Amino acid sequence: MKKIGVALLGLGNIGSGVMKVLQENGELIKCREGMEIEVKRILVRNLKKKRSVEVDPALLTDDFNQIINDGSIDIIAEFMGGEMPAFTYISEALKRGKSVITANKEVIAKHWDELEEEAKRSGAGLYFEASVAGGIPIIKPLRRSLQANRILTLMGIINGTTNFILTRMSEEGRTFEDVLSEAQRRGYAEPDPTADIEGYDARYKLSILSTLCFRNRVRVDNIYCEGIRGVAADDIKYAKELGFGIKLLAIAKKLNGKIEARVHPTFIPLSHPLYAVRDSYNAIFIKGDMVGDIMFYGRGAGDLPTASAIVSDIVTAGQNNGAHHSFRLEVEKPEIEDNWIDEYYMRLVVLDKPGVLAEIAGIFGRHNVSLDTVMQKQRDHDHATIIFITHEAREKWIHEALEEIKRSPAVISVESLIRVER
Ligand code: HSE
Repeated sequence: MKKIGVALLGLGNIGSGVMKVLQENGELIKCREGMEIEVKRILVRNLKKKRSVEVDPALLTDDFNQIINDGSIDIIAEFMGGEMPAFTYISEALKRGKSVITANKEVIAKHWDELEEEAKRSGAGLYFEASVAGGIPIIKPLRRSLQANRILTLMGIINGTTNFILTRMSEEGRTFEDVLSEAQRRGYAEPDPTADIEGYDARYKLSILSTLCFRNRVRVDNIYCEGIRGVAADDIKYAKELGFGIKLLAIAKKLNGKIEARVHPTFIPLSHPLYAVRDSYNAIFIKGDMVGDIMFYGRGAGDLPTASAIVSDIVTAGQNNGAHHSFRLEVEKPEIEDNWIDEYYMRLVVLDKPGVLAEIAGIFGRHNVSLDTVMQKQRDHDHATIIFITHEAREKWIHEALEEIKRSPAVISVESLIRVER
């Protein structure tokens, strides 16, 4: 029976989940994989804190040196979160030839190259299935199951908090602020929800996914990012009338050798499989040139789903001991496309008087933007709400057109601009 010595960095929600999985299914894994996973040490901040899981207090330490210098520890599993000191610990472990399992999207998104180099030098393995979409297996399928494909498109709901908020807004007709404060009260959203709401969490995850998809480094600052704070209840209502729902999508495409990567609220048809992904569930929809359309769906967070991914990585690292597959990037660096082609939904408030619609349509026309749908929704004294959906247009044409539209005396405000994916 192969024995693998593991140290855990962190014993919060995820660390406790890992202990629970090992306590409940350790025997099962032993029988199935012929491998015994033995937790040798657990790094914690507070040695005295009461834990939600039963742990031998002798395993706890607040000194990383006791872990890094312990020759019986083959694998270090990190779920402390945040960039520092997690990055330092991961880097040190790899240098010493200890394989690392991490759930840390920020560290992988920002430092993948240097960590991969360290791993290659020492022969250690670097695994991070839990860093994106919690319990959903997506890293391994992209690395090891879809190599025969060129990935053309990836569209993902990879942030549970924002999907929960948008689902409740859509199903209950509530405002963003109202749902957010309920989610915080119930503990579904973080006390400081900025990283989720503004799309930063999804951007880290998309950096990892798109790098895997295109085998080329897509950095965090290559990714356009817009959160859901500006999505109004009216936009959700009008979207439905037009046959769409609004989701925060992480989108990556490779077209004509150029990569585009972006996170933003998106109109998708009510019939799209991603629209059926409700509440805090995650899903990733991928189009490969050989496999066609596939979708991965499940829990994107939570102690046991995330621990399921971490323990799977521990098993894989144990099996691959000394023969880890490092990740090869393509030699050619592609261009990053920031002037992508999309369709666009816009909501404007304008003066309700003759000639206004013709003037706005004229501005769109002069900027090469062709209109698909025009609807007047609401009249309020001398103001009207007008909704436009364009045909495919370049991002820059839309912004140039809107700049000119905003200058028109007949336009009171541009309330929303939301991209449309069909
Ligand atoms: N905060 C994330 C979410 C989970 O809401 O999906 C951890 O990545």
